[in-house]
Amino acid sequence: MVIQWFPGHMAKATREVKEKLKLVDIVFELVDARCPLSSHNMYLDEVVKDKKKIIIFNKIDLCDRAETAKWKNYFENKGYTVVYTDAKNSNNLNKVIDKAKEELAEKIARQVAKGIKPRAIRSMVIGVPNVGKSTFINKLIKKNVANTANKPGVTKKQQLLDTPGILMPKFDNQEIGKKLSLIGSIKDDITPLDDVSLYLIELLKENYLENLNNLYKINVNSDDENVFIMEKVAEKRFKKIGGDYDYDSTIKLLIQDFRTQKFGLITLDNYNDLLENEEQNEN
Ligand code: G4P
Repeated sequence: MVIQWFPGHMAKATREVKEKLKLVDIVFELVDARCPLSSHNMYLDEVVKDKKKIIIFNKIDLCDRAETAKWKNYFENKGYTVVYTDAKNSNNLNKVIDKAKEELAEKIARQVAKGIKPRAIRSMVIGVPNVGKSTFINKLIKKNVANTANKPGVTKKQQLLDTPGILMPKFDNQEIGKKLSLIGSIKDDITPLDDVSLYLIELLKENYLENLNNLYKINVNSDDENVFIMEKVAEKRFKKIGGDYDYDSTIKLLIQDFRTQKFGLITLDNYNDLLENEEQNEN
């Protein structure tokens, strides 16, 4: 079974985002800090054109900071402005507002020079499902209302379009799909969860072997086959059914354990993998 990437309603969503762009000054693309490249829409620039944009690495509280910092660098080297946030706990949202003001400073200065009173900054939030768009919008709106209420006379506040744009990356790369499934962007009922869980094992054994061994109290190594590792987990956690491993329960367990952070702070996109792929493509 292959994960379908760009279903019709996503094409419609892209169209809608394009239409709404006219109404905004700046676009916030939310990506998941655990896989900033895989959850990023590589056609963002094409969709957003020369509208100002900020890439927000949300769920920063869940990622492996050292690995995710490499991705921040990667995006900054491509000219993007990046801000880390934990929208759930309202962390760093002021930074988003500050950066938006910085990005729009020239435009605002031009308006002032023309004698136009600058209006509130209008922004649009886009990103894949479950990346935290609604949470981000709600928290940012509350923050602005609070800020405004605290400072009498200050009426300028940021306006957000309250319907976030869902944009799935258009991609034929199954690995990206599996990562998007792990972070809950793609519904489980259209996903081959057996493949996803084996892929999770692959990523964990390569980059977070200790976390994997510690959680299940097993002692596998990175040369072991993924299926062998799955069987070790099954052995530890479930009774055999008719002499066979309970693969179904093990598959669900692995995915659930990732989604509930049982492996600790994990970043699924590995920067060295990208470098290796680029090297291979060059040769
Ligand atoms: P969406 O609009 O992009 O689809 O995402 P939404 O805001 O619905 O958020 C999806 C889930 O991610 C929610 O959890 C939300 O609480 C969580 N979330 C959002 N931002 C962050 C963050 O920065 N860090 C963490 N750790 N979680 C975040 P949920 O379990 O679906 O709902 P709830 O139990 O929190 O209500």
